[in-house]
Amino acid sequence: MEQKRYGHFDDQHREYVITDPQTPWPWINYLGNEDFFSLISNTAGGYSFYKDAKFRRITRYRYNNVPMDNGGRYFYIKDGDTVWNPGWKPCKTPLDFYECRHGMSYTRIMGRKNGVEASVLFFVPLKKWAEVQKLTLKNESKEVKQLKLFSFEEWCLWNAATDMENFQRNFSTGEVEIEGSTIYHKTEYRERRNHYAFYHVNAPIQGFDTDRETFVGLYNEFADPQAVMEGKPRNSHAHGWSPIASHYIEVTLQPGESKDFVFLLGYIENEQDEKFEAPQVINKKKAHALIAELDTTEKVDKAFAALCEYWDALLNIYKVKTGNDKLDRMVNIWNQYQCMVTFNFSRSASFFESGVGRGMGFRDSNQDLVGFVHQIPPRARQRIIDIASTQFPDGGCYHQYQPLTKRGNNDIGGGFNDDPCWLIFGTVAYIKETGDFSILDEMVPFDNQPGTEVTLFEHLKISMDHVIKNLGPHMLPLIGRADWNDCLNLNCFSWDPNESFQTTENVSEGTKAESLMIAGLFVVTGKDYVALCKKIGKADEAARMQQAVDAMIEAVKKHGWDGEWYLRAYDFYGRKIGSNECEEAKIFIESQGWCTMAEIGAEDGMVAKSLDSCKKYLECEHGMVLNNPAFTKYIYEYGEISSYPEGYKENAGIFCHNNPWVIIGECIAGRGNDAWSHYAKILPSYVEEKYQTLHKVEPYVNCQMVAGKDAFKPGEGKNSWLTGTAAWMWYTVSEFILGIKPDYDGIRIDPCLPETASDYTVCRKFREAEYEITIHPNGAQKGVRSITLDGQPVNGTVIPYSAGKHVVEVTM
Ligand code: GLC
Ligand code: GLC
Repeated sequence: MEQKRYGHFDDQHREYVITDPQTPWPWINYLGNEDFFSLISNTAGGYSFYKDAKFRRITRYRYNNVPMDNGGRYFYIKDGDTVWNPGWKPCKTPLDFYECRHGMSYTRIMGRKNGVEASVLFFVPLKKWAEVQKLTLKNESKEVKQLKLFSFEEWCLWNAATDMENFQRNFSTGEVEIEGSTIYHKTEYRERRNHYAFYHVNAPIQGFDTDRETFVGLYNEFADPQAVMEGKPRNSHAHGWSPIASHYIEVTLQPGESKDFVFLLGYIENEQDEKFEAPQVINKKKAHALIAELDTTEKVDKAFAALCEYWDALLNIYKVKTGNDKLDRMVNIWNQYQCMVTFNFSRSASFFESGVGRGMGFRDSNQDLVGFVHQIPPRARQRIIDIASTQFPDGGCYHQYQPLTKRGNNDIGGGFNDDPCWLIFGTVAYIKETGDFSILDEMVPFDNQPGTEVTLFEHLKISMDHVIKNLGPHMLPLIGRADWNDCLNLNCFSWDPNESFQTTENVSEGTKAESLMIAGLFVVTGKDYVALCKKIGKADEAARMQQAVDAMIEAVKKHGWDGEWYLRAYDFYGRKIGSNECEEAKIFIESQGWCTMAEIGAEDGMVAKSLDSCKKYLECEHGMVLNNPAFTKYIYEYGEISSYPEGYKENAGIFCHNNPWVIIGECIAGRGNDAWSHYAKILPSYVEEKYQTLHKVEPYVNCQMVAGKDAFKPGEGKNSWLTGTAAWMWYTVSEFILGIKPDYDGIRIDPCLPETASDYTVCRKFREAEYEITIHPNGAQKGVRSITLDGQPVNGTVIPYSAGKHVVEVTM
């Protein structure tokens, strides 16, 4: 397959520059940092929402459409008989020049046609509930240009799920108001909603449309809306059907002249008793105020500069200089950026997650936190409390919760037995970063029920206990509905295609289904828990849990070792999964990752053998597959995992999320060459260089899955952006490869590098301190020989924390 290039990195501006609009798949970016969010593709497709992609959707989107990625914020420019869009779509009029720059929470799309340049800067200003679209039109020709400009947004009737199905109601509810250059969307505001949206432009308009059918025409498409093609807005007022917002502006440009238009897509909430300014008329006070804050180029430029400064500050917390651009750009820019995005969205809204299906995952969000906690610790703190609040008194927990209500999701329920352990993982990371032990004393409810509060520490304790109280016949953890691998459904037994593998648990009575993945996770997080208990003076609790951890280690050594690698699980009947004795799927990655991270049986050579087996059986050109060989048939006792065709998803796909587990295992074992070669295989910048066409999805971020060696098309990526891979790649490279590890009392320095690594420097802000750490590897893969802090030798490998600026030299 010929590998075409569609773009390139621009590290100086921290942008990915797309130079061909016909990317192999929509290459998207995210706007917004806290409450108001947008997804935007390289042709300006996508949608916006407030906090929750399901319950508070502002603009409409159709998924998996024909053509793909139709609908978005579109500007139509009619120049004589030519109609075109700066982002090429939807008209697809060939452009003289096209460029899309995806940056840190902003996207700039530029097109040129017949001497006119149109450039649109899209971003959500900090702390504002609005998306700015600053359109600059420039006449680069020698003639006067008379342009007709049409904007376009399509409203979603708020609940993105019912918006796509309940048409008997929806087609009668749509309501708008028009005032000057602002179009207001107020569907359902008359009754229970206290929010509306608006679309404004900071210029007088010569017309508008708010009814989709009138604007587009029932037999036309986004590519040729009737009003645009005829150059005549209809001034339509939507009643029901599908309300939209389109401004019409006549623009005259002298040769060389350029004009800015600031379009603003905003969201407003009003108090119950301030909803209306007159019967049926919405109270627009807050909208006017928001508009006034962003109605000139100067104000918008200032807001944009503030956003850029915000990202400067975030990305200044951890900065590496290795001299390897491919590594530096991922560590300093894109990996950290993706971590912020996954922290914000969990697995809810991407071009692979519709935003209507899933809320925030318990395990997912705890992992995401680890990629994000150094950036904005207070938000991580709040997240931990929110997550823990969805726990049950027995330590089990809701698998997901909705960000808007923060309540557990009853459709999915609980019963995923790895979930509780992740709370330890997230909390420990938070305390190590911040030194804020006070979080352990926060009072946190169960299932969000007021009056049930106990300390967060108590939540951690019952999390550990949940594992101990749910052990199977080999004294290994019972798996429940599934562990990290949502598709290993050992208590499900389903022949009914209408049943969900995740929520069906037909046969848990008397189950012997145990998980080695949870066993390893329990040992890793158990050791962390023990250390934490010691640190806060709970010696008895530390001793109690140490015993449980030791017992688990023994159980794994005794019942979890297959000779060359760790088993994956025992099934309902107590039969081995992931064993040489099995017909298919003899080895799985998850237990190799967790048990090597836990160093179980290292003294007996188990760790080294397991890591070697990963190389031998799981590794391929594009990364390590999840299991090998792939399942070729559906196995009733195993569930969804065997439902996927060979090489995809959880059936022997390269599930990027779990590659870092093995890489960390390699790092702990001190095998720097192997760690690096696994890492580079799934590092986007290396893939970008080689495989843009094959890889298909965005080359600047990790995707959840790359098709594995047994697949029809090995190396093809899917499910980009929202994946635990982001946090795990970050955790791996920042703490284990480059070796800068936050700890309770300071920063632990313990790199694990390929022999070829040269000297490098990490600038790390940590609490009130700033460290400039230079590492001299001297060809070593692992092992710190000496450290100096501001010229003074340090004992051991932890640089003791003290505020202020410090210089650290490390010799390996
Ligand atoms: C998805 C889920 C995650 C799960 C993984 C493996 O990424 O978000 O929770 O662990 O799949 O099944
Ligand atoms: C499917 C996917 C898995 C995901 C799960 C979430 O099982 O294969 O990756 O975690 O759905 O519900």
